[in-house]
Amino acid sequence: MLPARCRCKRRDARLAAQYLALALVNAGVARADDSPPISQQCAGERVFIDSCLPCHQSGSGSGLDLSAPGTLARRALTAAQVVRDRTMPPWLPSSAGPPLRHSRALNGVDRAALLAWLESGARSANSVVPSETATEIPAVLTVRFGEGWSLSADPGLSVRSFALTPLVAQPLLIGGFELVADAPGVVHGVSLLWDQLGYGVRLDASDITPGYEAVGDIGLHASGSAGAISRLSPRLILPRGYAIEIPRSAALVVEAHAQGRGKVESPAATIRFLAASADARIVHPYSFSRVRPAVLTAAGDAIGVSVRAGSRVKSIEVLAVDMWGATTRLLTIPAWNEQFSEPWFFDQPIALCEGTRLEVRSTANPAAELLPLDTHAAAMSEPTVVVLVADSCASDAQ
Ligand code: HEC
Repeated sequence: MLPARCRCKRRDARLAAQYLALALVNAGVARADDSPPISQQCAGERVFIDSCLPCHQSGSGSGLDLSAPGTLARRALTAAQVVRDRTMPPWLPSSAGPPLRHSRALNGVDRAALLAWLESGARSANSVVPSETATEIPAVLTVRFGEGWSLSADPGLSVRSFALTPLVAQPLLIGGFELVADAPGVVHGVSLLWDQLGYGVRLDASDITPGYEAVGDIGLHASGSAGAISRLSPRLILPRGYAIEIPRSAALVVEAHAQGRGKVESPAATIRFLAASADARIVHPYSFSRVRPAVLTAAGDAIGVSVRAGSRVKSIEVLAVDMWGATTRLLTIPAWNEQFSEPWFFDQPIALCEGTRLEVRSTANPAAELLPLDTHAAAMSEPTVVVLVADSCASDAQ
């Protein structure tokens, strides 16, 4: 029998319904439906428009525009190759574990239709390319980072952290973020942490160049504890009804991951913080690694998970083990690729009991172990995971 404390976490139907409503709204936004009638397109082109174009048109987060028929025709075989080897569309988690929001995984029928179309030269049956007009959402806070950081042409991934002092006077509730990069694609992603102790500011000040060369963790708190955004979905809206709190008088530590693209570039970008509703439940971060699992101090609902790991890691499994030893798989990534890391959110919140242990297991990538262990690789040779959890008992008592 489960103790009463644990039963209190069973969410009422109202919250589940809110969650579902948001999923539907988001699905509607993602497919701004002004695309031409399906009958005019062959199935493969339709899959391309739905599953590839959102990231591959001008100004989109990937930085690679495939929307002009000529460009696509020239790259059709490369495109077929990356679809065949399952690099594209990018989606690292496997279907083992709870369903995730906005999965990009292609089903077999769609993959086959897309491959057939690409391999036959990707000839377009329509001349209109749907362009998503992103509606502007007002920001409650806007922050610039990376100014003066010049990224070398070298194709290696770089990580740099920046401590910024927007210093809000009153705590703010955040329902989402937007990453607006000066040069889309060069910044792969950022993870965030609010530092009330001033360590980040000191680290940044002790390095004469902009930012400092280290990950953005502060003590035992992993970067990502205040959310993360990736170029794969530059606008991230948390599931409805949940919020991340910005504490007052704290410095923002931005850990930025960027990759050289054959020329010296500036990875500077703006992060826009979007408002949450006033009655949203605040999520708390639990950060953990293989050697240091986290234990839930209260029953709660896990809403999402983010992972930081380098190329030395091959597969990753994030597990929740309750006090009776029952294990829930939260995330499984069979073939890790740090280029396509992003925060993942569950379709439905996952109820976890007080005392549940959050663990991560991983396997090593033997090929990467032959490469020199530089600072970047060393900091990320083991996965660091953040799971966002909203207390459930507290809100049930209201
Ligand atoms: C969520 C965003 C996203 C989606 C959806 C997506 N891509 Fe990509 N794609 C990227 C990113 C990011 C890159 C890497 C760009 C870079 O090199 O920095 C990329 C790279 C590519 C490349 C270049 C690969 C190379 O090795 O040169 C091709 C071709 C490509 N994508 C095709 C596709 C096709 C086909 C689809 C649909 C099945 C697709 N992409 C869907 C984000 C996306």
